[in-house]
Amino acid sequence: MDMSTRLRDVLAVTFLVIGLCHGCAGMRNWDYEPLSVHFVTSDASKINVVSEVVRVGRYDYAISANLTNTEDVDETTMIEALCYRSKSGAEDDYTILPFSIPNQPFKDFAKTYYKDIAYQSLKHCSNAPTPEEAYPWPKGVVTFNMCSATGEGLPEYLPEGYYKIIFKIGGRRNWDYEALFITGKSSDESLVSIQTGLERKGRGSPTVSIVLEINYQIDDETQIEATVYQSYTGHDNDYKLMPFGIEKKAFPDYLREFYDNVVYSNMGHCSNLPKPGEQIPWPIMTYKFDDCTFPGEGLPEILSEGYYKRNWDAETLFVNSSTSDESLLGFTTEIVRQGRDKPTFSAVLDFHYQLDDTTTVEVLIYHSQTGGEDDYKLMPWNVPQKPFTEFIAEYYKDLLYANLGSCSNLAEPGKEIPWPKITYNFEKCMITGDGMPEIAPEGYYKIFFAATGPVDWNFVYGMKIVSKSNAMGY
Ligand SMILES: *[C@@H]1O[C@H](CO)[C@@H](O)[C@H](O)[C@H]1NC(C)=O
Ligand SMILES: *[C@@H]1O[C@H](CO)[C@@H](O)[C@H](O)[C@H]1NC(C)=O
Repeated sequence: MDMSTRLRDVLAVTFLVIGLCHGCAGMRNWDYEPLSVHFVTSDASKINVVSEVVRVGRYDYAISANLTNTEDVDETTMIEALCYRSKSGAEDDYTILPFSIPNQPFKDFAKTYYKDIAYQSLKHCSNAPTPEEAYPWPKGVVTFNMCSATGEGLPEYLPEGYYKIIFKIGGRRNWDYEALFITGKSSDESLVSIQTGLERKGRGSPTVSIVLEINYQIDDETQIEATVYQSYTGHDNDYKLMPFGIEKKAFPDYLREFYDNVVYSNMGHCSNLPKPGEQIPWPIMTYKFDDCTFPGEGLPEILSEGYYKRNWDAETLFVNSSTSDESLLGFTTEIVRQGRDKPTFSAVLDFHYQLDDTTTVEVLIYHSQTGGEDDYKLMPWNVPQKPFTEFIAEYYKDLLYANLGSCSNLAEPGKEIPWPKITYNFEKCMITGDGMPEIAPEGYYKIFFAATGPVDWNFVYGMKIVSKSNAMGY
């Protein structure tokens, strides 16, 4: 199979979620009704799904399907699932949800999501292979007979509405490219000069040649940024910003992060670029790139309209804190507004007691589409109540410190246990989004952090999330 030209096979399942009893703690609060199943395949002789929604009894519906596979599923087979919700069911009202399954080898999927969710929900109504036999996926027909998923392994809370799950199955790196044009520009030819050329040899893809003459020391003062635009038609005014550019950063940081696995791995073979490890400080010299074609190392494996990185930006709306005993813990917060900049927040947390496992911590996240107080609903990304050290072990480095380390005197990761009994100052903090889901529905959020122990204290953070791009794919 030619992976580079193969389209991805797409399975879309739509269903209606009906709320059962709001506020029934610890139980699934929803039921659902399947509405449709669609399967689009690039080659029905290799993989195909024939499906129908059948009525059982007066109110219930189920899905029957035959999945036929004649193809070898191997380590290059990738799968991802994107989940969308629409309040009204209208096609243009669907927004992406955070419960997606990230693009991953089918082999990994079989060991996790298939085993814990799909198989549990479907084994009673199908001859679906057991998790142990799911990879490589058997050739032949798998029959699903009147399946109504049991909801095993799914979130306990789901807002009402219409849901669509899109599974995309395909080969690794589904794209190939052809260089079309290349241009370069310098504001001072005496410091940097750049010449570019595109050469077409025979029938192959054109190659790129560049002469880049650097006459100054590129250091921290130089910032670099990469933006990627995509157009289906190639018309100039049809290009849309793609989400996988490189954020503006100091050149040495860029070299540290991207030199080995993107820059050198794509262009090292056709240029006199310094070997990895020798790129800092950046040699002042003339760089020649001759007849380069880029193998695509370090680039996203699948490029499609639906591929993107963190798609949201957050804006702080309010903060609030409380403490049950100021003599043990002082806690004050405030919003800082400065001119036209986005609001930030500051906080002082003054510890006079030892924070240890006598304290438990819980995080609840609520979402409201309108911002109206009674419209807030609990989201499925909560951190259930747990002892403080467990919470810190899981979330300190990648979430707390990643988001707040740079605006506070929080202990460096590794030095947070035992928790230093000091006064913590947070100054003009913003949530960077590190460690958070890449995809979040737009709207208003309230993050409620509560610590219970010798002293009870809590922190409420209100924010608004706005999508960066609507390049959703479906
Ligand atoms: C699946 O195949 C069986 C056997 O050929 C057939 O009876 C059934 O109708 C098929 N189901 C669907 C949904 O097409
Ligand atoms: C802040 O918290 C206090 C105490 O819990 C509460 O009385 C107050 O209404 C809260 N304010 C906001 C804006 O949430």
